[in-house]
Amino acid sequence: MSLSGPEVQHQQQFSQMAKLLLIWNVTVTGVVAPFGNLMPLGLDYLQHLREALREEIVELEVLKDGGQAAVLRGRRIRTPSGTQTDDSVAVKLYANIDEDERIVREIDAASCAKSETLVDLLSHGITYLGDTKARYLVCRFIEGQPLSELLQDGPKPAIVPIVGRDVSTAIVTLWKQRIVHRDITPKNIILRTGIESAVLIDLGIAKRPGDGALTAAGETWGTRGYLSPEQSSGTRLTCMSDVFSLGVTLQHALAGVHPTGFNQNQLNSGGRSSHPRHLPTTSATMNLKAGTSMQQSPQPVT
Ligand SMILES: Nc1ncnc2c1ncn2[C@@H]1O[C@H](COP(=O)(O)OP(=O)(O)O)[C@@H](O)[C@H]1O
Ligand SMILES: [Mg+2]
Repeated sequence: MSLSGPEVQHQQQFSQMAKLLLIWNVTVTGVVAPFGNLMPLGLDYLQHLREALREEIVELEVLKDGGQAAVLRGRRIRTPSGTQTDDSVAVKLYANIDEDERIVREIDAASCAKSETLVDLLSHGITYLGDTKARYLVCRFIEGQPLSELLQDGPKPAIVPIVGRDVSTAIVTLWKQRIVHRDITPKNIILRTGIESAVLIDLGIAKRPGDGALTAAGETWGTRGYLSPEQSSGTRLTCMSDVFSLGVTLQHALAGVHPTGFNQNQLNSGGRSSHPRHLPTTSATMNLKAGTSMQQSPQPVT
């Protein structure tokens, strides 16, 4: 897609803003807490899990192993209340019980915010894999492809309106429950097969009013390059922080590259520069409305 004069200018301005934002992410907040705790269970956890869940879920296969959780695909044959069913599911498995409070928050957020544009939590439970206590979330499987994978082939301007529409709806649905997602990136958006709709997944660091901080001082959860300035600096958040992250994501999808021109590895290692003198703010830089509830000034959740 070729861009006209004002669009090119806007894109250049956006790129400048995003570079400032990256510098802010890196130099002001210090460490952005990494998603780096590998499953502590060794290679045989899959066997343990298949055995532990065999009455409820069958045909479990690993989709993704690493980060905070392993994600597996399977077929749910029975609900926790004993009703027979046949659902294609994604099972998110956490074996790091130090993280339990955060996982409970994820369950809580996914239980109360329901929309076709949000990952659908069907059930959850606690199980033992050998001696290791683990929590698992059973979500409806979304047939499709993460936006991050689609963008590996270059710009995808045709899907920008779909992602904008559906992720905005997801942000509004969450904010009606006063939840901020805090990790809207191309990795956490799945385009359903046929590319007619998008689903926001991964409520792993979603936050509600009154939730205490679960990170050490100076750390911020999230994905570098997509955080709003207020999230980077650890100040109080509203849904506008998610709108900011969606804006960066849409720009990425439109151009095929992150607004800074960096890939995720480069974003993670960050730039080195002095503090910017003028930091962008969410309301000043993004003019994207995600429904009527965005038109009032939202009150922060923390
Ligand atoms: N409901 C689902 N349907 C299909 N794929 C899923 C689903 N949930 C997660 N995945 C896949 O697993 C990956 C990791 O899931 P996510 O919830 O983002 O976990 P993490 O906290 O490790 O990032 C996603 O990027 C996606 O590819
Ligand atoms: Mg994720």
